[in-house]
Amino acid sequence: MTQRLHWQVLAERSARSGAVSGLLFLATSGCSKPLDSFNPVTPQGRAISALFIQVMALSALVLLAVTALIFYVLTRYRAGRDEREPSEVEGRRGLEIAWTILPAVLLGGLFVLTLQTMNAVDAASPSALRVKVVGHQWWWEYQYPDLGIRTANELHLPTGAPLKLEIEAADVIHSFWVPQFGWKRDAIPSRTNVMWVQVDQPGAYEGACTEYCGLQHAWMRVYVVAEGREQFEAWAERQREAAAPAEAGPTTRGLQVFLQNTCVNCHTVRGTPASGQLGPDLTHVGGRSTLGAGVLPNTAQNMQRWIQDAQAIKPGALMPAYAALADEELRALVDYLESLK
Ligand code: CUA
Repeated sequence: MTQRLHWQVLAERSARSGAVSGLLFLATSGCSKPLDSFNPVTPQGRAISALFIQVMALSALVLLAVTALIFYVLTRYRAGRDEREPSEVEGRRGLEIAWTILPAVLLGGLFVLTLQTMNAVDAASPSALRVKVVGHQWWWEYQYPDLGIRTANELHLPTGAPLKLEIEAADVIHSFWVPQFGWKRDAIPSRTNVMWVQVDQPGAYEGACTEYCGLQHAWMRVYVVAEGREQFEAWAERQREAAAPAEAGPTTRGLQVFLQNTCVNCHTVRGTPASGQLGPDLTHVGGRSTLGAGVLPNTAQNMQRWIQDAQAIKPGALMPAYAALADEELRALVDYLESLK
């Protein structure tokens, strides 16, 4: 399993919905690693990081200078035991002008640096690949309008290519944040916020929703897979295809169970009559690494738990419990869904 989650989020999760499933996840996921804002993998992130360091260094210098001056004044003008009230000191005009102008110059410099960074980060690229990112309670929908792809919870991107993320929300305000992209943008209903990025290094990058959006805000994880052009094209090709026709045996039975139940009200599996738009597109759900926007690794066993009682795993999610399914139906359904690679 490539999914990595850091323990703080696990702790949050455990506090929210039972320590057992949190620990289960810890046991089944790989190493854990905190979300990392200090190693940006995009030019935009590097520009923001550079500004952060410049501001930090300048602020440190100011702090040092002010502290040194205070200590100088404290020691130099310390009253002796026999001294009386100090006499009034006349203002020094030159000094006062200097300490008014100096901060103004520093702030002016920071202003220019900030404008430069904003220009670099917001620079539009007409050839960028468009990806529509839609926040839902509590999962992410990803559409690639130019490639004819609609998927969920796992954002695949080509490396070294400019990207235009068009961030929207279907219900309440969310916020799309991948620390190593260097910046984040709110996802607001009936409005599109654009975020320009170019991911330079292949890899898996984690992020999270960072605007409190309801009970399962903590389980609205972002998972990005950045890969070379060829791998990305291959992925896109697979995603464009409709679901493979159910083979004889358990998968045919599974498709039958899927179509006979209310699954179809919310989910789409392209190539079948299921065309619900409310929940994640399941056409290639078997190929994704997690279930429920990061709440569980995608295994057959977890898929079964998720279908049987999603509410026990992610209370408040719109996915209802299918406790009434017979064992045989449930197994067939899980086999079918997991076969949708
Ligand atoms: Cu979506 Cu917080």
